[in-house]
Amino acid sequence: MAVLDILTWPDERLKQVSQPVTEFDEALARFIDDLEETRLAGPGAVGIAAPQVGRFIRVVIVDVSKTRKPVPNHGHLVLVNPEITEWEGYELGREGCLSVPDYTGNVIRAERIHLRAQDAEGNWREWDMEGFEARAVQHEIDHLDGLLFLDRVVSRRSDIFRRKVYKKKGQP
Ligand code: NI
Repeated sequence: MAVLDILTWPDERLKQVSQPVTEFDEALARFIDDLEETRLAGPGAVGIAAPQVGRFIRVVIVDVSKTRKPVPNHGHLVLVNPEITEWEGYELGREGCLSVPDYTGNVIRAERIHLRAQDAEGNWREWDMEGFEARAVQHEIDHLDGLLFLDRVVSRRSDIFRRKVYKKKGQP
């Protein structure tokens, strides 16, 4: 397994639309392992999408089961060719992204979704999701369509926030 390099904004490649996966083979399984290792190597990301490591295929990983405050969730999900088929309600929430390390933003997302996706072997599955897990899935699927949360904020002036920088003790 390997930790892969993450593309960061404003890298133009993050705007590329990713292609559907058609081969559910050993190479895909190995790539998913690397993508997961990359997610875990980061600062506690709840999700990652293949294009963030420069592979433009429709694969994302989402896992909101380890958040500080527990939220409704379906555990660790590898989603291949994911499609949201129903949306309900909307709410504003704060998002961060491995590809936008210096900022967070307030983004409106659907509160509840119906999702279908294939697993690493190509089997289709379906889920009803809500809240933070539904938000994470919507954020990751956006990556597959070349969109970042920065593209979704209502106002770039009032809805984007610089992350606090923590200086090490003893530094000026
Ligand atoms: Ni992201």
